[in-house]
Amino acid sequence: ILTHLRERCATPLPVLRRVADAMAAEMRAGLVSDGAGDLPMILSYVDSLPSGDEKGAFYALDLGGTNFRVLKVQLGGRDGRVVETELQYAQIPQELMFGTTEELFDFIASELARFVSKEGGRSLHLPQGKKWELGFTFSFPVKQTSVDSGILIKWTKGFSVSGTAGRDVVACLNEAMERQGLDMRVSALVNDTVATLAGAHYYDEDVMVAVILGTGTNACYIERADAIPKLQGLKPRSGKMIINTEWGAFSGGLPLTEFDKDVDSASVNPGEQIFEKTISGMYLGEIVRRILLKMAKDNALFGDSVPQKLSTPFILGTPCLCAMQQDDTDDLTAVGAILSDTTGAQSSLKEREVVVEVCDTIVRRAGRLAGAGIVGILQKMEEDSHGLVLGRRTVVAMDGGLYEHYPQYRRYIQDAVTELLGQKTSENIVIDHNKDGSGIGAALLAAANSKYVG
Ligand code: BG6
Ligand code: GLC
Repeated sequence: ILTHLRERCATPLPVLRRVADAMAAEMRAGLVSDGAGDLPMILSYVDSLPSGDEKGAFYALDLGGTNFRVLKVQLGGRDGRVVETELQYAQIPQELMFGTTEELFDFIASELARFVSKEGGRSLHLPQGKKWELGFTFSFPVKQTSVDSGILIKWTKGFSVSGTAGRDVVACLNEAMERQGLDMRVSALVNDTVATLAGAHYYDEDVMVAVILGTGTNACYIERADAIPKLQGLKPRSGKMIINTEWGAFSGGLPLTEFDKDVDSASVNPGEQIFEKTISGMYLGEIVRRILLKMAKDNALFGDSVPQKLSTPFILGTPCLCAMQQDDTDDLTAVGAILSDTTGAQSSLKEREVVVEVCDTIVRRAGRLAGAGIVGILQKMEEDSHGLVLGRRTVVAMDGGLYEHYPQYRRYIQDAVTELLGQKTSENIVIDHNKDGSGIGAALLAAANSKYVG
């Protein structure tokens, strides 16, 4: 099984190239019209990036990662350029991921209300007749109708909330805020990639792309208006617009196995988000669990009986894979302990070595494919700009727990980028970890689209 797995998951240069080329081709198709390819290529309506002049206090909400976050950001303008953030994290209760729209948005609004009341006296007083403004980072595919409104296309990352798809999520939030007695207005609705790009670009003008590698995965980039036929006459102020690729939906040329197909068919969204299911944090542990289960059943990996808990979906999280891969003890003590704690398996050293090898096979494929995806985006930008991307310093702002915590994953991304672009060119491409930059990004975009701040 292991030999077969290694072969099926191999990502030599021709496979990486095929994936990068397919990514670039799907991007082009998606820019022509909606539904023309795998990639939604969503117009963000963000057509000017923060200038540095933004001033004032703004709230930001962030829904869609491991944690739901509430922030307040104080923007100091060009002279001060002081940015202060206050954070409140909350986990979205599991049952809300399968509940109703009202339940989910009531939870979000109540967390916001709790945050606002906690800061109480410390908050600045608003001049009369104005409302607090809010940047809403909503990390799901939304068909934007403007910078401050958009319709949920579908849930991803295991969310299956009823009644939201097809509705304007800003309207859902507004109604919930009203129920909580909160008098705020959403001045920007943004994807997490878009917020990350805006936040990172504020500090570094060479940032052209943002990627999230966490629970889910996605990328956005700055596109020229003349390369977006589906704008149909709409003229972005700067001649450019951020495009949210929703690359999780990509599927072209991926080296997939029966285990990936099983993960897909058992998911809440079968047939969708195939790239995401191959490379993102929500799924890597589950792919490995299915492989180990097959090895336990067919090859008696853990002896005569199959460890009972190994049959439980999602029992092995991606953080476990990561912890096992960091084990440098001679007898792989941590691997043994993690296997025993999560699945109940008692293992010999040889078996532990096999497990680590399985983890590495799946994580190497994921990291290298993520790297190929990044190169696909850069390649598309390069073709249209004749040397203005790969021939100079270009920064890819990166966020997400998978990237942050998994050293091997980071290395595999970089390996693939270097193999595809060559040593010299790849030195121009800086992948920069931008932790939680999306909060500041959302606040900056709220300021840039404020009704009150001129
Ligand atoms: C955060 C974003 O910074 O990164 C989230 O603001 C995003 O919206 C996240 O989804 C990725 O985080 P995670 O928890 O999925 O690794
Ligand atoms: C999922 C969402 C996407 C988001 C990504 C990373 O793919 O559909 O909108 O950006 O996860 O959080």
